[in-house]
Amino acid sequence: MKLLSTISLGLLATISLNAQTTMCFKENHTSMTTIESIPLDGGECTSTKSVKDMKNDGWKVDDIKIENLANGKNYIYIFKKESQTLSSLDEEKIEQRIMQKLETRKKTEKETRKKEIKVRMSKDGKKLYINKCQNCHGEKADKSAYATSRPLINLTYSDMQLSIRDYELGSYDRGNAFIMKPYAASMNQADIKNVYSYIQSLKPKKDDTNKEESK
Ligand code: HEC
Repeated sequence: MKLLSTISLGLLATISLNAQTTMCFKENHTSMTTIESIPLDGGECTSTKSVKDMKNDGWKVDDIKIENLANGKNYIYIFKKESQTLSSLDEEKIEQRIMQKLETRKKTEKETRKKEIKVRMSKDGKKLYINKCQNCHGEKADKSAYATSRPLINLTYSDMQLSIRDYELGSYDRGNAFIMKPYAASMNQADIKNVYSYIQSLKPKKDDTNKEESK
Protein backbone atom coordinates (compact mmCIF):
# COMPACT_ATOMS: atom_id res chain seq x y z
CA MET A 1 0.00 0.00 0.00
CA LYS A 2 1.35 3.33 -1.03
CA LEU A 3 0.27 5.18 2.07
CA LEU A 4 1.84 2.77 4.47
CA SER A 5 5.26 3.43 3.09
CA THR A 6 4.84 7.10 3.84
CA ILE A 7 4.51 6.48 7.56
CA SER A 8 7.75 7.50 9.07
CA LEU A 9 9.59 5.11 11.29
CA GLY A 10 9.70 7.78 13.95
CA LEU A 11 5.97 7.74 14.12
CA LEU A 12 5.86 4.00 14.64
CA ALA A 13 8.54 4.20 17.25
CA THR A 14 6.22 6.18 19.48
CA ILE A 15 4.05 3.10 19.84
CA SER A 16 4.27 2.18 23.43
CA LEU A 17 4.24 -1.38 24.59
CA ASN A 18 1.67 -0.71 27.27
CA ALA A 19 -0.80 0.74 24.85
CA GLN A 20 -2.67 -0.61 21.93
CA THR A 21 -2.00 1.31 18.78
CA THR A 22 -3.69 1.30 15.47
CA MET A 23 -3.25 3.26 12.31
CA CYS A 24 -6.12 4.44 10.13
CA PHE A 25 -6.07 6.63 7.10
CA LYS A 26 -8.10 8.46 4.52
CA GLU A 27 -6.63 8.99 1.14
CA ASN A 28 -7.26 11.97 -1.02
CA HIS A 29 -9.83 13.64 1.18
CA THR A 30 -10.83 17.17 0.40
CA SER A 31 -12.84 18.51 3.31
CA MET A 32 -11.24 19.33 6.60
CA THR A 33 -14.64 19.66 8.25
CA THR A 34 -15.76 16.11 7.54
CA ILE A 35 -12.54 14.28 8.24
CA GLU A 36 -13.58 13.55 11.83
CA SER A 37 -16.90 12.00 10.88
CA ILE A 38 -16.20 9.91 7.82
CA PRO A 39 -15.15 6.28 8.17
CA LEU A 40 -11.43 5.74 7.95
CA ASP A 41 -9.68 2.89 6.24
CA GLY A 42 -7.17 0.47 7.68
CA GLY A 43 -6.34 -0.66 11.17
CA GLU A 44 -9.14 -0.89 13.68
CA CYS A 45 -11.20 1.56 11.68
CA THR A 46 -11.87 -1.07 9.01
CA SER A 47 -13.51 1.48 6.72
CA THR A 48 -16.44 1.67 9.14
CA LYS A 49 -15.29 3.87 12.00
CA SER A 50 -14.69 7.56 11.99
CA VAL A 51 -12.41 9.46 14.30
CA LYS A 52 -15.46 10.18 16.46
CA ASP A 53 -16.40 6.50 16.59
CA MET A 54 -12.89 5.61 17.56
CA LYS A 55 -12.91 8.19 20.33
CA ASN A 56 -16.17 6.73 21.56
CA ASP A 57 -14.46 3.36 21.64
CA GLY A 58 -11.85 4.73 23.97
CA TRP A 59 -9.16 5.51 21.45
CA LYS A 60 -7.17 8.69 21.60
CA VAL A 61 -5.59 10.36 18.64
CA ASP A 62 -1.90 9.99 19.22
CA ASP A 63 -0.66 11.53 16.03
CA ILE A 64 -1.97 12.89 12.78
CA LYS A 65 0.02 13.08 9.66
CA ILE A 66 -1.29 15.07 6.80
CA GLU A 67 0.11 14.95 3.31
CA ASN A 68 -0.82 17.62 0.86
CA LEU A 69 -1.75 16.35 -2.56
CA ALA A 70 -2.64 18.28 -5.67
CA ASN A 71 -6.37 18.32 -4.94
CA GLY A 72 -6.84 16.86 -1.51
CA LYS A 73 -5.03 15.52 1.48
CA ASN A 74 -3.97 12.17 2.81
CA TYR A 75 -4.77 11.83 6.48
CA ILE A 76 -3.04 9.28 8.61
CA TYR A 77 -4.29 8.82 12.15
CA ILE A 78 -2.45 6.97 14.83
CA PHE A 79 -4.81 5.97 17.58
CA LYS A 80 -3.73 4.82 20.96
CA LYS A 81 -5.65 3.11 23.66
CA GLU A 82 -4.05 2.86 27.06
CA SER A 83 -5.05 -0.67 27.86
CA GLN A 84 -5.57 0.51 31.41
CA THR A 85 -8.22 -1.90 32.54
CA LEU A 86 -6.33 -4.79 31.05
CA SER A 87 -2.89 -3.85 32.29
CA SER A 88 -4.00 -2.86 35.75
CA LEU A 89 -5.85 -6.16 36.00
CA ASP A 90 -2.71 -7.93 34.94
CA GLU A 91 -0.70 -5.95 37.44
CA GLU A 92 -3.13 -6.91 40.14
CA LYS A 93 -2.80 -10.56 39.22
CA ILE A 94 0.96 -10.37 39.10
CA GLU A 95 1.00 -8.58 42.42
CA GLN A 96 -1.26 -11.23 43.89
CA ARG A 97 0.96 -13.96 42.57
CA ILE A 98 4.04 -12.29 44.01
CA MET A 99 2.32 -11.87 47.36
CA GLN A 100 1.33 -15.51 47.30
CA LYS A 101 4.87 -16.58 46.49
CA LEU A 102 6.24 -14.42 49.28
CA GLU A 103 3.68 -15.84 51.62
CA THR A 104 4.57 -19.44 50.80
CA ARG A 105 8.24 -18.64 51.03
CA LYS A 106 7.73 -17.05 54.40
CA LYS A 107 5.81 -20.10 55.50
CA THR A 108 8.42 -22.58 54.36
CA GLU A 109 11.16 -20.46 55.89
CA LYS A 110 9.24 -20.37 59.11
CA GLU A 111 8.70 -24.12 58.97
CA THR A 112 12.36 -24.73 58.29
CA ARG A 113 13.37 -22.45 61.10
CA LYS A 114 10.95 -24.20 63.42
CA LYS A 115 12.33 -27.57 62.39
CA GLU A 116 15.87 -26.34 62.88
CA ILE A 117 15.00 -25.04 66.30
CA LYS A 118 13.30 -28.29 67.17
CA VAL A 119 16.29 -30.29 66.02
CA ARG A 120 18.62 -28.07 67.99
CA MET A 121 16.42 -28.14 71.08
CA SER A 122 16.09 -31.86 70.79
CA LYS A 123 19.85 -32.22 70.44
CA ASP A 124 20.54 -30.06 73.49
CA GLY A 125 17.77 -31.85 75.31
CA LYS A 126 19.18 -35.21 74.41
CA LYS A 127 22.53 -34.36 75.95
CA LEU A 128 20.92 -33.09 79.10
CA TYR A 129 18.49 -35.97 79.36
CA ILE A 130 21.07 -38.72 78.83
CA ASN A 131 23.52 -37.11 81.26
CA LYS A 132 21.14 -36.09 83.97
CA CYS A 133 17.73 -37.71 83.76
CA GLN A 134 17.91 -41.03 81.99
CA ASN A 135 19.16 -43.04 84.96
CA CYS A 136 16.00 -42.50 86.89
CA HIS A 137 13.45 -41.79 84.14
CA GLY A 138 14.51 -44.43 81.65
CA GLU A 139 16.14 -44.48 78.24
CA LYS A 140 12.76 -44.09 76.59
CA ALA A 141 11.38 -41.77 79.29
CA ASP A 142 8.77 -44.40 80.01
CA LYS A 143 9.87 -45.40 83.49
CA SER A 144 8.28 -44.34 86.72
CA ALA A 145 11.26 -42.95 88.67
CA TYR A 146 11.39 -44.57 92.06
CA ALA A 147 7.94 -45.82 91.31
CA THR A 148 6.54 -42.40 92.09
CA SER A 149 6.91 -40.19 89.02
CA ARG A 150 4.69 -40.52 86.01
CA PRO A 151 6.51 -41.68 82.90
CA LEU A 152 7.85 -38.43 81.44
CA ILE A 153 6.87 -39.50 77.95
CA ASN A 154 3.23 -39.13 78.95
CA LEU A 155 3.58 -35.57 80.19
CA THR A 156 2.53 -32.52 78.26
CA TYR A 157 4.86 -29.60 78.12
CA SER A 158 2.91 -27.71 80.74
CA ASP A 159 2.75 -30.80 83.01
CA MET A 160 6.47 -30.92 82.90
CA GLN A 161 6.97 -27.21 83.36
CA LEU A 162 4.62 -27.10 86.35
CA SER A 163 6.04 -30.20 88.02
CA ILE A 164 9.57 -28.91 87.77
CA ARG A 165 8.61 -25.45 88.95
CA ASP A 166 6.71 -26.91 91.88
CA TYR A 167 9.60 -29.17 92.91
CA GLU A 168 11.70 -26.05 93.03
CA LEU A 169 9.06 -24.28 95.08
CA GLY A 170 8.66 -27.31 97.30
CA SER A 171 4.95 -27.49 96.58
CA TYR A 172 4.82 -30.76 94.66
CA ASP A 173 5.49 -34.18 96.07
CA ARG A 174 4.42 -37.58 94.86
CA GLY A 175 6.37 -39.14 97.74
CA ASN A 176 9.98 -38.78 96.61
CA ALA A 177 10.19 -35.12 95.72
CA PHE A 178 13.40 -34.71 97.67
CA ILE A 179 15.13 -36.93 95.11
CA MET A 180 13.95 -34.83 92.17
CA LYS A 181 14.24 -31.41 93.76
CA PRO A 182 17.94 -30.75 93.03
CA TYR A 183 17.48 -31.70 89.39
CA ALA A 184 14.48 -29.45 89.08
CA ALA A 185 16.44 -26.61 90.67
CA SER A 186 19.22 -27.02 88.11
CA MET A 187 16.92 -26.60 85.14
CA ASN A 188 16.00 -23.34 83.46
CA GLN A 189 13.10 -22.82 81.04
CA ALA A 190 15.25 -23.58 78.01
CA ASP A 191 16.39 -26.86 79.56
CA ILE A 192 12.80 -27.87 80.17
CA LYS A 193 11.87 -27.08 76.59
CA ASN A 194 14.87 -28.91 75.22
CA VAL A 195 14.32 -32.00 77.32
CA TYR A 196 10.64 -31.98 76.49
CA SER A 197 11.35 -31.78 72.80
CA TYR A 198 13.89 -34.60 73.07
CA ILE A 199 11.39 -36.75 74.93
CA GLN A 200 8.84 -36.14 72.17
CA SER A 201 11.34 -37.52 69.69
CA LEU A 202 11.43 -40.76 71.68
CA LYS A 203 7.80 -41.41 70.99
CA PRO A 204 7.17 -44.18 68.51
CA LYS A 205 6.58 -42.58 65.14
CA LYS A 206 2.99 -42.49 64.01
CA ASP A 207 2.36 -43.20 60.37
CA ASP A 208 3.01 -40.31 58.07
CA THR A 209 -0.65 -39.52 57.58
CA ASN A 210 -0.96 -38.54 61.24
CA LYS A 211 2.21 -36.57 61.21
CA GLU A 212 0.51 -33.22 61.08
CA GLU A 213 1.94 -31.24 63.85
CA SER A 214 1.31 -27.69 62.85
CA LYS A 215 2.30 -25.82 65.95
C1 HEC B 1 17.98 -39.53 90.88
C2 HEC B 1 16.81 -39.83 90.14
C3 HEC B 1 16.25 -38.74 89.28
C4 HEC B 1 16.90 -38.01 88.34
C5 HEC B 1 18.37 -38.08 87.93
C6 HEC B 1 15.90 -37.14 87.75
N1 HEC B 1 14.68 -37.34 88.32
FE1 HEC B 1 12.95 -36.51 87.79
N2 HEC B 1 12.01 -37.46 89.22
C7 HEC B 1 12.57 -38.37 90.08
C8 HEC B 1 11.59 -38.82 91.05
C9 HEC B 1 11.79 -39.81 92.15
C10 HEC B 1 10.41 -38.14 90.74
C11 HEC B 1 9.09 -38.24 91.49
C12 HEC B 1 9.17 -37.28 92.65
C13 HEC B 1 7.91 -37.28 93.45
O1 HEC B 1 7.68 -38.26 94.16
O2 HEC B 1 7.18 -36.27 93.33
C14 HEC B 1 10.71 -37.31 89.58
C15 HEC B 1 9.76 -36.52 88.95
C16 HEC B 1 10.02 -35.80 87.83
C17 HEC B 1 9.03 -35.07 87.12
C18 HEC B 1 7.60 -34.95 87.51
C19 HEC B 1 6.84 -36.16 87.03
C20 HEC B 1 5.41 -36.12 87.42
O3 HEC B 1 4.83 -37.21 87.56
O4 HEC B 1 4.87 -35.03 87.62
C21 HEC B 1 9.65 -34.53 86.07
C22 HEC B 1 9.03 -33.66 85.01
C23 HEC B 1 11.02 -34.91 86.13
N3 HEC B 1 11.22 -35.69 87.19
C24 HEC B 1 11.95 -34.55 85.22
C25 HEC B 1 13.30 -34.84 85.34
C26 HEC B 1 14.29 -34.33 84.46
C27 HEC B 1 14.01 -33.46 83.25
C28 HEC B 1 15.46 -34.78 84.88
C29 HEC B 1 16.83 -34.50 84.31
C30 HEC B 1 17.20 -33.11 84.28
C31 HEC B 1 15.22 -35.59 86.04
N4 HEC B 1 13.88 -35.59 86.29
C32 HEC B 1 16.17 -36.25 86.74
C33 HEC B 1 13.85 -38.83 90.06
C34 HEC B 1 14.86 -38.32 89.25
